[in-house]
Amino acid sequence: MSTSPFRADLLAGSRIVVTGGGSGLGRAIAGVLAAHGATVHLWGRRPDPLADAAMELDRIRPGSGVPRSVDVRDAAAVEQAMDAAWADGPLTGVVNGAAGNFLAPTATLSPRAYEAVTSTVMDGSYFVTHAAGTRWIAAGLAGSVVSLLTTWVWTGSAFVVPSAMAKAAVHAMTMSLAAEWAPHRIRLNAVAPGPIRTDYAWDVLDAGRDDLVGATDPRGVPAGRLGTPDEVAHLVTFLLSDACEYLTGETIAMDGGQRLAGPGTFAALGALSAEDWAGLQARARAASEASKAQRRAE
Ligand code: HXC
Repeated sequence: MSTSPFRADLLAGSRIVVTGGGSGLGRAIAGVLAAHGATVHLWGRRPDPLADAAMELDRIRPGSGVPRSVDVRDAAAVEQAMDAAWADGPLTGVVNGAAGNFLAPTATLSPRAYEAVTSTVMDGSYFVTHAAGTRWIAAGLAGSVVSLLTTWVWTGSAFVVPSAMAKAAVHAMTMSLAAEWAPHRIRLNAVAPGPIRTDYAWDVLDAGRDDLVGATDPRGVPAGRLGTPDEVAHLVTFLLSDACEYLTGETIAMDGGQRLAGPGTFAALGALSAEDWAGLQARARAASEASKAQRRAE
């Protein structure tokens, strides 16, 4: 855990929605935002991880986490959730963290597989940003949006094509709305993290072959290590603060130099055999089924 460089009250009075806030990077970011004084609305599909995350935030600062089960792919559900979040006072920021992804040869993808990833990343980020932005504009309030992207927005990446396409779309949204909404004092920025280990992401993105360097392998990172969630969380905290109000429309890579030393993609996985693919797909589907079974049980 790296130490926060910020005052503990940097985000006092801030009210921020974090999508994907129940797990992975979204959850870590939510914790750091709460530690700096923000009230964090935790949005995700599964109630249990959200409730867990809210309890964790409670220990950081009582009442700082407000969990809500919402599927960001559903525009009407997002509108409803946004109304509920604004009921106690206007939001000040949004973190688009909800994502879906898995490794697969593109030729094997069904339309539904494409849709599962792109709708969460692209539609979800747009719906949440739109729901916050329209309210900020109507109320004449400033706001800040930070989206979690990948360095594939600049390079594309083999074997995660729907994710690369959808993240590139959110990169375009970030640049476009930065210009359109700057007169309203609404800023949009993004962070493109390199490999950072979170449980589910590694189940669906680790090819499990030592001889191949994929995007999640620290050997492809000049810094020689994976990133940590709190490093990303600190940058997100800075972007959401009022320390840099002239900064908008930027996607900032935080990848230990990975993209500068090589593409940081999954292109090397072209060497996987059909058997390798079957094995890693079985593991990804098992992780996805386990997560669905958990959702059904809740
Ligand atoms: C091929 C697959 C598949 C796989 C699912 N599908 N997993 N196809 N390979 N491994 C297909 C299914 O067969 C189905 O199509 C369609 O996708 C929808 O599947 P569902 O399981 O019904 O979808 P859903 O429950 O919505 O799950 C979405 C998901 C899942 C994306 C598949 O993985 C998920 O919920 N992920 C959320 C968390 C996540 O992915 N985090 C990692 C983000 S990391 P058919 O046609 O069969 O019906 C990241 C960047 C990392 O984004 C950067 C690293 C450097």
